[in-house]
Amino acid sequence: MKGDAYLKCIDPYCGLEYPITSTNIQCEKGHLLDVIYKNKPPSSLKEVFYKRRNPEGSIFNESGVWRFRELLNFCQIDTENIEECSKYLVSLDGAEGRLSKPYRMSKAADLIGMSNDNLWLQPEGYNPSGSFKDNGMATAVTHAKMVGAKKIVCASTGNTSASAGMFAANEGIKCDVYIPAGQIAPGKLSQAYQFGAQILEVDGNFDDALKQSLEDAQNHNGYTVNSINPFRIEGQKTIPFRALEYLNWETPDWIVYPGGALGNTSSCGKALMELYDWGWIKKIPRIAVINSEGASTLSDLYNGKFEGEELRWNKGKPNTELISRYYDHLDKEGLRPKTKATAIQIGRPANILKGLRALEFTDGVVTTVTDSQMLDGMSVVGLNGFDCEMASGATVVGIKKLIDEGVIQKDDIVVGILTGRQKDAMLPVDYHNNPENKFAKPPKN
Ligand code: F0G
Repeated sequence: MKGDAYLKCIDPYCGLEYPITSTNIQCEKGHLLDVIYKNKPPSSLKEVFYKRRNPEGSIFNESGVWRFRELLNFCQIDTENIEECSKYLVSLDGAEGRLSKPYRMSKAADLIGMSNDNLWLQPEGYNPSGSFKDNGMATAVTHAKMVGAKKIVCASTGNTSASAGMFAANEGIKCDVYIPAGQIAPGKLSQAYQFGAQILEVDGNFDDALKQSLEDAQNHNGYTVNSINPFRIEGQKTIPFRALEYLNWETPDWIVYPGGALGNTSSCGKALMELYDWGWIKKIPRIAVINSEGASTLSDLYNGKFEGEELRWNKGKPNTELISRYYDHLDKEGLRPKTKATAIQIGRPANILKGLRALEFTDGVVTTVTDSQMLDGMSVVGLNGFDCEMASGATVVGIKKLIDEGVIQKDDIVVGILTGRQKDAMLPVDYHNNPENKFAKPPKN
């Protein structure tokens, strides 16, 4: 197994390689990295994963991340040997990904206007820290442990910091979190404090906080756990793995995510590229990314709303100058991302190139929704007895918009990811106190 996994630059015209123990998040030329596996896992593992749903006392079978450990075996260990797994794999007692699977939600299907049989929504908010981040944090912190890191560092709109803080506390390592002051949900901020993370308040937005955290991590020996870390992406591949397994590996037509820094889009793309390459799936689902109207970098560039050019991965030759000119334009005009869905209030998605690669591989689409639509999406999920936050509401109303536009067909099978749990207690209270809102149920005296 040793020597099976390594890091490789995503740019096919660069392709620099690094050993798996490297802590570089970019190649020397500044391109993002992928974890690459030399061996092709056999599809007979589908049976093994299914059997592990009866965990028989192993937290690594209970974990919805490590249950698929052969498909993310960057530690290059004997995955059947539980003692060896315990030495390497970081887990919150098997809780990450454990409660995640797709559900039917009839009221959401009604709002969207599609048959309840065709719509699956997968809540990732029931992870131990309350968001999908735990999937990728389990793997990133596993790598941090593998390289002997003493401190993990991240910038965050809230959920990453909660997840990083939780795993760091559990592993007994330090955690610094850079947050845009005053711009994160109170419930997320309080989690970071609760888990003993060191908060660093940045006067600016998430993009500014990320820049500062990356500089500080480099200068002060910190291990970055944002989604530009390729090991985060490995864990987040298990989000589509669980959906696919639940559907007996019959691929849906669409997988839909809210778009922020585009870690999810990237990881879904990588998961599908690998499964297709390994012969596990025959059809490639299309990815739809839903931006907030107030933080729409990907949508603007992908849909040709800036300078008229539709930005594409273009087989590894994306027009990166177009992206730079877009960012210069934002700076020059003083345009800052602005949405009440603070989780996705991001102007410079750090994984944009991996995101574009995923969209090209899956013939994906990108669209935007408004704040008030996202609140409706969040609220209708609640009416099915499930909890999610405002950014996750984008998935529901994004599907509706794409159905209304005829991009998604009514008989398509759609899996939407609900990325996080409600951590801004006043949002639903305010929503329901305003009788003008679509699903409002105001209090009575
Ligand atoms: N949904 C939620 C609930 C999030 O917290 C985030 C990102 C996203 C969607 C966007 O996902 O970055 O993979 O496109 N939150 C990050 C954070 C940025 O710091 O917690 P993405």
